[in-house]
Amino acid sequence: MSAELFVAVPLLPEVRALVASRRDAAFNLSGRTMGIAEIAGASAGARTLIVSPANRMDEAAIAALAPSVEILGTYSVGHEHIDLAAAQARGLRVLHTPDVLTDAVAETAMLLMLGAARRATESIELLRSGAWAGWNPTELVGLQVTGRRMGIYGMGRIGQRIARRARGFDMEIHYRTRRPLAPEVEQGAIYHEAEESFFAACDVLMLACPVTPETTGLLDAARIALLPKDAIVVNIARGAVVDDDALISALRDRRIAGAGLDVFNNEPNLDRRYLDLPNAFLMPHIGSSTMTARIDMAASLLDSLDAIDRGDADGVREVI
Ligand code: DGY
Repeated sequence: MSAELFVAVPLLPEVRALVASRRDAAFNLSGRTMGIAEIAGASAGARTLIVSPANRMDEAAIAALAPSVEILGTYSVGHEHIDLAAAQARGLRVLHTPDVLTDAVAETAMLLMLGAARRATESIELLRSGAWAGWNPTELVGLQVTGRRMGIYGMGRIGQRIARRARGFDMEIHYRTRRPLAPEVEQGAIYHEAEESFFAACDVLMLACPVTPETTGLLDAARIALLPKDAIVVNIARGAVVDDDALISALRDRRIAGAGLDVFNNEPNLDRRYLDLPNAFLMPHIGSSTMTARIDMAASLLDSLDAIDRGDADGVREVI
């Protein structure tokens, strides 16, 4: 007899133990990303299937799922890998994990900003190559972010938590978002209706928005041209928000000072030109990768399943 819940995502042993303690569950124990046919086969008979952004749940993948699957959870807050229209047409409930990874991602955003501003890639390379000749006040001079302006594109939970941290660096916060924040939430952050004034205010541009038709390819050559010279670009949103050709050219030509990137188009096959750029500080989509977040993400999905079982709509963290 198959388990009630199938987790297609490789989980840490601690997280697996948590899930197994609360649900009748079967797991992907291979440590690798499963293909869609494999997922469909392994989840047949289960009511709930858990996937991640590594699994492209497009219309065909959703159609391939066994009729037993009524709930599709993603072990992530982002859900652009799921065709929501297809899920809805099939009557699937789609769960995700907002809130619990906000701090982890906001911490990563600060790391990316500082890594790019303080030339971490070149520093590490200097040490690893054995070429470091000792303290030299002319070497690896970076940008000080204290007191500068941070422009946050996407002022949701994560954007707001980044703003809180940036205020600790005495940064002035500018933002663009679907709807301006209420004054008590905004805390002095400056909302820009106009794109031009927003991008011109970004000494640090922090991309923290979801992928939508409006934000796909948002950071293109025209918008990069609006940034102050010596700007830093940070992407903790999704690769699709950036036009790679435009950003790579701007980094190569030193039109901007640097970029800190945790996410890429076409992961894991990122544009390899990034790897040759000394002013790009790169991480492999580990924004939410802390033990605290990983455990809390699983707990969030389990809490949503419990809420579904007791008919508590407010307790379900669902996308649709
Ligand atoms: C998320 O939860 O969306 C993280 O980016 C991991 O994909």
